[in-house]
Amino acid sequence: MNEMTPPSSEERAKSLKGLGSARKRVEDVRFTQGKGNYVDDIHMDGMLFGDFVRSPYAHARVTSVDKSAALALPGVVAVLTAEDLEPLGLHWMPTLAGDKQMVLADGKVLFQGQEVAFVVAEDRYIAADAVELVEVDYEDLPVVVDPFKAQEPDAPVLREDLAGQTEGAHGPRRHHNHIFTWEQGDREATEAVISEADVVAEEMIYYHRTHPCPLETCGCVASMDKVTGKLTLQGTFQAPHAVRTIASLISGIAEHNIRVISPDIGGGFGNKVGVYPGYVCSIVASIVTGRPVKWVEDRMDNLMSTAFARDYWMQGRIAATKEGKITGLWCHTTADHGAFDACADPTKFPAGFMNICTGSYDIPVAYLAVDGVYTNKAPGGVAYRCSFRVTEAAYFIERMIEILALKLGMDSAELRRINFIKKEQFPYHSALGWEYDSGDYHTAWDKALAAVDYDRLRSEQSERLEAFKRGETRKLLGIGLTFFTEIVGAGPVKNCDILGLGMFDSCEIRIHPTGSAIARLGTISQGQGHATTFAQILASEIGLPADDITIEEGDTDTAPYGLGTYGSRSTPVAGAATAMAGRKIRAKAQMIAAYLLEVHDDDVAFDVDRFAVKGAPDRFKTMKEIAFAAYNQAIPGLEPGLEAVSYYDPPNMTYPFGAYISVLDIDVDTGVIDIRQFYALDDCGTRINPMIIDGQIHGGVTEALAIALGQEIVYDEMGNMMTGTLMDFFIPTSWETPNYVTDFTVTPSPHHPIGAKGVGESPNVGGVPCFSNAVHDAFKSFGLTQTHMPHDHWRVWRTAKELGLHG
Ligand code: CDP
Repeated sequence: MNEMTPPSSEERAKSLKGLGSARKRVEDVRFTQGKGNYVDDIHMDGMLFGDFVRSPYAHARVTSVDKSAALALPGVVAVLTAEDLEPLGLHWMPTLAGDKQMVLADGKVLFQGQEVAFVVAEDRYIAADAVELVEVDYEDLPVVVDPFKAQEPDAPVLREDLAGQTEGAHGPRRHHNHIFTWEQGDREATEAVISEADVVAEEMIYYHRTHPCPLETCGCVASMDKVTGKLTLQGTFQAPHAVRTIASLISGIAEHNIRVISPDIGGGFGNKVGVYPGYVCSIVASIVTGRPVKWVEDRMDNLMSTAFARDYWMQGRIAATKEGKITGLWCHTTADHGAFDACADPTKFPAGFMNICTGSYDIPVAYLAVDGVYTNKAPGGVAYRCSFRVTEAAYFIERMIEILALKLGMDSAELRRINFIKKEQFPYHSALGWEYDSGDYHTAWDKALAAVDYDRLRSEQSERLEAFKRGETRKLLGIGLTFFTEIVGAGPVKNCDILGLGMFDSCEIRIHPTGSAIARLGTISQGQGHATTFAQILASEIGLPADDITIEEGDTDTAPYGLGTYGSRSTPVAGAATAMAGRKIRAKAQMIAAYLLEVHDDDVAFDVDRFAVKGAPDRFKTMKEIAFAAYNQAIPGLEPGLEAVSYYDPPNMTYPFGAYISVLDIDVDTGVIDIRQFYALDDCGTRINPMIIDGQIHGGVTEALAIALGQEIVYDEMGNMMTGTLMDFFIPTSWETPNYVTDFTVTPSPHHPIGAKGVGESPNVGGVPCFSNAVHDAFKSFGLTQTHMPHDHWRVWRTAKELGLHG
């Protein structure tokens, strides 16, 4: 190449590090050098520390709280109880699900670990000591932790505050511990199809209670400036703007006088969406004392009191012809919501997106009913790395497919293939009300099966079985298949709101005169790498290098209003807002370029990093030159400057999908599972950063592994929480984590400006059934149809024993 040859369009595009570039994460420079700024790193002059007195009982009347000994301890500044909060109307708070929740125990406690009093002290250790000195008298009450027993006529009344209320936030309540019934689909038609079907498979599928358990627990620092009247709340918030609005509504402080900041967040996974008593108490304590107050959970606080996930009992029936064409699906779910309905779901969806339970299959009729029930367990019900119960839905349908295949005596890979929604059926309207935007399931499935050499795996499995029967091995081979469809990117506003706040998102871009930029968004990264990838979207849209674009999130005083990051909504919604705001910048840049080049606006065209005169590519103005001109040239009819903002209300959600296959060796004598192979094919439409996508898949499959094979929140019959430490609650380390093989197809979303769908949650949604199906698959030749997760060593060993495999 001649030294003077100007770089080609491809070379210029590459140097921008835009869409498709495996750009290294810009965040990691800070994180790997210890320069992260997490809530617990925040220090302020005069800062106090809060800690909770928590209930040792799961259900009890609080007969008295004596603070005197605690208050006498040097360094203790205040002890708050419900009595102190009542005059402010803050002893109860609204939940995201339309229920209300005690901030501090008001007359009784409803779960072990419930917040009873808030101690505020000069340092964290004094606060912890003072917690021990608060004397609380309890009168224990009968406990119910089983959601079915909770619905019996003589079950203890848990929510006395709701006595006589036959209407809840989501319709009629038919029992004192009943929260709502949510019905979707056509019950009559589904039952008619089931009664006439050639084959019907029926099973109870339990998706156990677990917890998102981010490495960093929840916490905040509340700081009320009595001079300016401004409250600054820094905390682990996945939705800072929503927190600001809710804080304003609850406290009566005008919204412009509240600044919410999410600093670096060490993993959210849904755990940091809700509003917790710790936030309210810290704000009140700061107002009362006039000093900043920090509250940070320890691990036990986090596991026992902030939002759990799952706990769905899903009774299913699936009907098919004898050739395997599915004709109908029926599901009744009992949802254990614990003591308060504090689920984080869009208002109109009290069971989240559970009505995507027809999965990736063309099922003509379906019916879903979900009953929400109160028990003496912690409240929550958040989307642990999934979009509002889609993981429960995916687990349900992917287990039902396996159970149906057993009943039909058919290979489940083939059963999936003959029931997949076909490429030409998109946009596809599901029987339970969704419009899937795009998909090509057959291509993805064939690619996945070929990649693992599926037929060879099945032959190996048969050989292994024969060897097992001959006594030559004690290990069975399990092959786990899963094909999932995710639903991510809530909005649209017309369908999705949280506490009345429409679920759009936003991006505001400011181009500086020298051609670098800052973009602020309504979302907040918790490890997903937004600072890296959103700059890539912009680089491709506005032709400036990603390295010259700063991404800022998480400060309500500077970022435009948005609904935050959860449910893989950042790329589908804020990513779209970013592209749209970029296009506004580009439209103005086009006018500036045309003026500078002395041609009509229509006579210039965008080319990677410049506008060039059509038919004369050497006559151009680069985006850097245009940026400078925007601030230095008086252009007739145009305001100076180069800025844009977009509030994006998506027309639909996006429907990423994936084909996952796992191969497990299972030792029947010890229950130990060796993950031999895990193959994950994901289709998230246009891929922004393949390296970050791989990282998302690795992390999410590891969480799926944890959930499927051991992670569980367990209560005994007295409501004692048995898994309050990481000794009891399984977090996989590199020791348990295998190598993953990742793969992809690309089916762009037709309505997203750059065709991207979300990806962060797919591996959790697809991974759990993939592991669980493999465990079931290993034992299916011995008559196992369904056993409950998690498949820890003990349960697997017990399954083998029950099947008579221990000789
Ligand atoms: O909302 P959340 O950030 O958790 O999930 P997401 O939108 O699925 O994005 C997770 C990460 O993957 C972000 O850094 C995205 O920019 C990136 N991603 C990507 O590179 N390409 C896609 N098609 C989707 C997400």
